[in-house]
Amino acid sequence: TQKIALIGAMNEEIELLVAHMTDIRETVKAGITFREGRFYEKDVVVCRTGVGKVNAAVTTQILIDQFGASAVIFTGVAGAVSPELQIGDIVISSECMQHDMDVTALGFARGIIPYEGTSIFQADPKLVELAEASGARLFPGRVKKGRVLSGDQFIASRDVVAGLHQELEGVCVEMEGAAVAQVCSMNAIPYVVLRSMSDKADGSAHVNFAEFTVQASENSYKMVEDIVKHL
Ligand code: ADE
Repeated sequence: TQKIALIGAMNEEIELLVAHMTDIRETVKAGITFREGRFYEKDVVVCRTGVGKVNAAVTTQILIDQFGASAVIFTGVAGAVSPELQIGDIVISSECMQHDMDVTALGFARGIIPYEGTSIFQADPKLVELAEASGARLFPGRVKKGRVLSGDQFIASRDVVAGLHQELEGVCVEMEGAAVAQVCSMNAIPYVVLRSMSDKADGSAHVNFAEFTVQASENSYKMVEDIVKHL
């Protein structure tokens, strides 16, 4: 039986999920509150991972081991990297990569994890397809599928964004997706990351993030709701 993990990093990113759940049972592990229950007729487990790759990785492994998650959908906000994206627009992960993995001093390309088979973790094609259908219904012309870049940094510089776009070919930047993706890949669990743009990761990012995180979180939530209804 399917149990879908629906997760975000911050309160704003999960509160609409929790508000729409029924039959909630709470368990705390590693300081994280896991809420099992029902969401649009599906069995789900919802939690706030906390910010950053370590929080996201630990939480994802617990979701798989302790809560039997059979798929993981991450919802939240991100900084736009593709110049085509406006605040509020949606990104669907085709794949995720850690932009702050840097072993270039040993000759590895930026973002490459040494001695691993892969450093670019592919999202599940079926979840991506469902997300694209939801995006076309809910946000026509405002959805982009591409590489999500993750790192333990809030990006607020046009120069850094230019590098993330040109060198690493990212479409948006956030702080958890690639950690979730790597843990899912290690466990052969399907995943997709959905992000709505709260800012453009430039000099105005901190102001925009404060202003637009609630609206962007709602946009991303609407995607998740529509995807789960069509699962
Ligand atoms: N999440 C939302 N905006 C972000 C940014 N500019 N950098 C990293 N993570 C983000």
